[in-house]
Amino acid sequence: MAVEITYHGHACFSVRTKQVHLLIDPFLTGNAMADIKPDAVTPDYILVTHAHGDHLGDALPIAKRTGATVISNNEIHTYMAKHGARSHGMHIGGAHVFPFGKVKLTIAHHGSAFPDGSYGGSPCGFLLWLEDKVLYHAGDTALFLDMQLYGEEGIDVAMLPIGDNFTMGPEDAVKAVGFLQPKQAILMHYNTFGIIAQDAAAVAEAVRLHTQAVPVLMKPGETLVL
Ligand code: NI
Ligand code: MN
Repeated sequence: MAVEITYHGHACFSVRTKQVHLLIDPFLTGNAMADIKPDAVTPDYILVTHAHGDHLGDALPIAKRTGATVISNNEIHTYMAKHGARSHGMHIGGAHVFPFGKVKLTIAHHGSAFPDGSYGGSPCGFLLWLEDKVLYHAGDTALFLDMQLYGEEGIDVAMLPIGDNFTMGPEDAVKAVGFLQPKQAILMHYNTFGIIAQDAAAVAEAVRLHTQAVPVLMKPGETLVL
């Protein structure tokens, strides 16, 4: 089996290989774009980029129900462990080889408080080495020049926010694609709320025009096979 990426709306993706099902940023309850219910997902691992409600989402109940291991920064790891979930704490720049492949926590310029306002550590993104593919999920972030360094990893697919206001907007997202040089760029984190409404087709066209990457627009429930 190849690597399969299924979009669940906002910044939530299932990434599957023949070995494993990774669920990233499971914001399902309260997400009008989501194609699945939190009770219906059965991941092996849950990757959380930061503690904001639209990313942490249903991570804790899903982890407790399924026994999935949460992978996140050390502060979110501590929160998960305290609440009875299995978890693995990491931090920015650190990589770890799991049974399914390697995970590295990347920089993200953003915030990371829990919904109750308590400290959620530094926000992050993820570089994932799965089978023979390299994936990058940026999390919520501004554009940053160090994306050029991540681009040196030879990224097959980058998942990038385009919503503006809270994260990169369209112009910076196109620059990010230029820095990262992925083969394909999945656009995410738009249209979930009115304030992050974007013309994603126009952003995709700009990616096609100004970079070497193939832009990918996914409807919730759609799967990209690598
Ligand atoms: Ni956020
Ligand atoms: Mn967000």
